[in-house]
Amino acid sequence: MLEVSALQKNYQVGKNTYEVLKGISFTVNDGEFVAVMGPSGSGKTTLLNCISRYIPVDAGQIRLGSTDLASLNEKQLAKVRNQKLGFVFQDFLLLDGLTVRQNILLPAIIGETVSERVEEQADHLCSIFGIQHIMHKYPAEISGGEKQRTAVARALINHPLLILADEPTGNLDSKSSRAVIDTFEQARTSLSATIFMVTHDSFAASFCDRVIILRDGVIWKTVVKGGRKRLAFQDELLDTIREMGQ
Ligand SMILES: Nc1ncnc2c1ncn2[C@@H]1O[C@H](COP(=O)(O)OP(=O)(O)OP(=O)(O)O)[C@@H](O)[C@H]1O
Ligand SMILES: [Mg+2]
Repeated sequence: MLEVSALQKNYQVGKNTYEVLKGISFTVNDGEFVAVMGPSGSGKTTLLNCISRYIPVDAGQIRLGSTDLASLNEKQLAKVRNQKLGFVFQDFLLLDGLTVRQNILLPAIIGETVSERVEEQADHLCSIFGIQHIMHKYPAEISGGEKQRTAVARALINHPLLILADEPTGNLDSKSSRAVIDTFEQARTSLSATIFMVTHDSFAASFCDRVIILRDGVIWKTVVKGGRKRLAFQDELLDTIREMGQ
């Protein structure tokens, strides 16, 4: 599905070069739910931006399915982002002038693929995520959790191979966070979605199959849930984060 190998990313600020990602390699399999954790500034958002090729990389490879993203030009990349990737951001990025339903349809509108079938898919997503009753409201008229569920539905409208989420529960209370995680789990079970999520939140991460922990530009540790209960997994994540702080 997603294969990242020996990825390096530096930022140049004036005369100084900051090495942010110093050789990161991992894969995400079909249907997996994987989280990335790590201290602020450890390069989590940078990693997501490299995967979607919003920023150039200095070395390494990124393969999405059978496509080597490095080999694509801007036009081909725009198509991959629109059709193979779904994005969920911390601050939702819904368009205020569009209704919930229109926001969900937006990637299909951009990809010029709106058909009756796509409109049905939008309605289906609204019903899966429990936002059917607010479908014709505008973002200013709905709650934070409802906005985030709308954002997740929008990320799924084009049946992406992979959903990239940056702190999707960052601005939410625990109940709304839980609702967002539930939408990811539903997306996985009902739509076979693959999800790659950056989070600070060990509660959100404890729903994943695997958590990659970044520190000082490398993968410091990977914690696998295995057959364990969610709470045992969350405890190990908390212990690992504590250990990292020392
Ligand atoms: N455009 C840029 N130019 C220069 N340095 C940058 C740029 N973007 C990010 N950085 C630096 O790269 C490092 C990693 O940033 P990044 O945003 O990836 O961190 P993060 O792990 O997502 O942090 P947070 O948890 O706070 O969101 C930070 O030290 C940051 O200051
Ligand atoms: Mg970030």
